[in-house]
Amino acid sequence: MKQMSHLDDIPSTPGKFKPYFHRTRWQSSVAKLAFWSLVFVGLIFIFFYRSPVSSNPDPSRRSLRTYSWGGPAWEKRVRSSARVRTRRGFSVLVTGAAGFVGTHVSAALKRRGDGVLGLDNFNDYYDPSLKRARQALLERSGVFVVEGDINDAALLKKLFEVVPFTHVMHLAAQAGVRYAMENPSSYVHSNIAGFVNLLEVCKSANPQPAIVWASSSSVYGLNTRVPFSEKDRTDQPASLYAATKKAGEEIAHTYNHIYGLSLTGLRFFTVYGPWGRPDMAYFFFTRDILKGKAISIFEGVNHGTVARDFTYIDDIVKGCLGALDTAEKSTGSGGKKRGAAQLRVFNLGNTSPVPVTDLVTILERLLKVKAKRNIMKLPRNGDVQFTHANISSAQRELGYKPTTNLQTGLKKFARWYLGYYNGGKKAAS
Ligand SMILES: NC(=O)c1ccc[n+]([C@@H]2O[C@H](COP(=O)([O-])OP(=O)(O)OC[C@H]3O[C@@H](n4cnc5c(N)ncnc54)[C@H](O)[C@@H]3O)[C@@H](O)[C@H]2O)c1
Repeated sequence: MKQMSHLDDIPSTPGKFKPYFHRTRWQSSVAKLAFWSLVFVGLIFIFFYRSPVSSNPDPSRRSLRTYSWGGPAWEKRVRSSARVRTRRGFSVLVTGAAGFVGTHVSAALKRRGDGVLGLDNFNDYYDPSLKRARQALLERSGVFVVEGDINDAALLKKLFEVVPFTHVMHLAAQAGVRYAMENPSSYVHSNIAGFVNLLEVCKSANPQPAIVWASSSSVYGLNTRVPFSEKDRTDQPASLYAATKKAGEEIAHTYNHIYGLSLTGLRFFTVYGPWGRPDMAYFFFTRDILKGKAISIFEGVNHGTVARDFTYIDDIVKGCLGALDTAEKSTGSGGKKRGAAQLRVFNLGNTSPVPVTDLVTILERLLKVKAKRNIMKLPRNGDVQFTHANISSAQRELGYKPTTNLQTGLKKFARWYLGYYNGGKKAAS
């Protein structure tokens, strides 16, 4: 008879139990029944008591993920994170909280005693480990960032069931102008479908929250009047990104008009600073200069200057908080509009455009490395030649007053970058 090795004791299928245990047929059937009953009960337990898994209606490339959420422990974390710690504080749902602006805004709200709950889908448009590091930072200051998509209506409804948010700071979006040519559906998914889904849930919430959300300076598109004023035309977007932000402004109008949602759109102008976005020029110029790699600097027609109204993150945060503080209540709680609600849009810029060549010169000084400059014609892929914000409206209504110039702001960015990427040794991807 063949000698059995110890490995033969390990069954690969339940049927393999048979020869080694001298059971009757009846005993074997009872064992099988008991085994499958256990599996069945186990599955039911997982389904009901662990966590509901969000639906994923979107076909776009990086969104084919499911997120788990729910359960008593999860709800406790949500409640605790959103708990207001001052008498007149807000409880704010911050979408895109693991993003660049979202992290800074969430931390600032938490610092002043507001309750904050974050939401982010941690997509891989840029290195998700940077988003995870921001999440860890927020976690340490008591902000829980729920992993989920703004298209997940069940998740959003659950969040509003657990916390009666007074405000939503909506920053989740597919950002970036050039990437729209590569993955257009991600812009529709997050900036249009996701925004509508969020507004649908907000309009039905009782109480309805006031919403402040990020539009973009890109809505000015081919507008040539400078500085850009909120009264200028915004019907000539130069990129799909800009078109989806412009669509967002129109969608905001609709939800304000029909459902009485209080909505404030903020047109950010090229935000930069520590914990910034690796797809933005100041960030990847820093990375490439440190690596000794050539950088492409664009110029306009007839060697025209390409310039940006670079705005430091702390100034943007002050503008966001100013918008939340001055936001009036929505008027349609319970789904019935009781009167006109606030609808606003503001430029948040720095009002001093700087040529991109000057940005590079400042970086060279800060990093003590000479850049290898490669001057190129501005491609027609969505970038505009010049941005310059008129901020008088935000100044008047939000008390917005930017105070950081590019030299000072970049110094803070460079210090963070060198620390975070270990003196530039650990390369930013
Ligand atoms: N940074 C700028 O210069 C700038 C300029 C103009 C407008 N904006 C707008 O400001 C907002 C914040 O920008 P940022 O620079 O922090 O960008 P970011 O990409 O760092 O942050 C956006 C966050 O939203 C998340 N997100 C994207 N789609 C989502 C979805 N469907 N569900 C849940 N989370 C989702 C991303 O994972 C990301 O963490 C965006 O709306 C952006 O369009 C930014």
